[in-house]
Amino acid sequence: MLKVAVLVSGGGTNLQAILDAIDSGRITNAEVSLVISNNPNAYALERAKNHGIEAVCISPKEFEKREEFHKALLKKLQESGAELIVLAGYLVAIPPMIVEAFPNKIINIHPSLLPAFRGAHAIDQALEYGVKVFGVTIHYVDATLDGGKIISQRAFGYDGDDIAELEARIHAVEYPLYIETINKLLKE
Ligand code: GRF
Repeated sequence: MLKVAVLVSGGGTNLQAILDAIDSGRITNAEVSLVISNNPNAYALERAKNHGIEAVCISPKEFEKREEFHKALLKKLQESGAELIVLAGYLVAIPPMIVEAFPNKIINIHPSLLPAFRGAHAIDQALEYGVKVFGVTIHYVDATLDGGKIISQRAFGYDGDDIAELEARIHAVEYPLYIETINKLLKE
């Protein structure tokens, strides 16, 4: 059984989709053994606890220096024995020391067709730009912002201006794409 650690900051609907996929056998031979949030109030932590999964908050605010936060995060990830680290709405930059400790083992999902619209405001920026083809990217994490090598992408057309509707469509694309991609990577 391969161990997966999931890093979150918010609601955790992607985390939920992954947990459901493991339960229903769409992801095989894997378990989420650890969920880490930087935000103590992230609902994703409740989702993990409801599933009987270790759920911890490691917040940069608990540490005087950023490097101490990075070391604590690295230690927890190493102790977990995770084969794959999945970022699912994790709003903290992953530092080089963690990227180097887990080469090609950290993946992220981003709500744009990278390399367009990196960063935290991808959906708003794309809408403002008048984009007609939206999408989702799953990529390896390196020390750059949303800049690691692309693993999978899925596009869809949208010609509206309703952000809530667009976000719902993005989520509907994200869940199956993340599940398929994680399942494939765990088999490699
Ligand atoms: C997702 O849209 C993902 O692309 C982005 O953050 C969002 C997280 O949503 N990185 P959730 O917490 O999984 O509901």
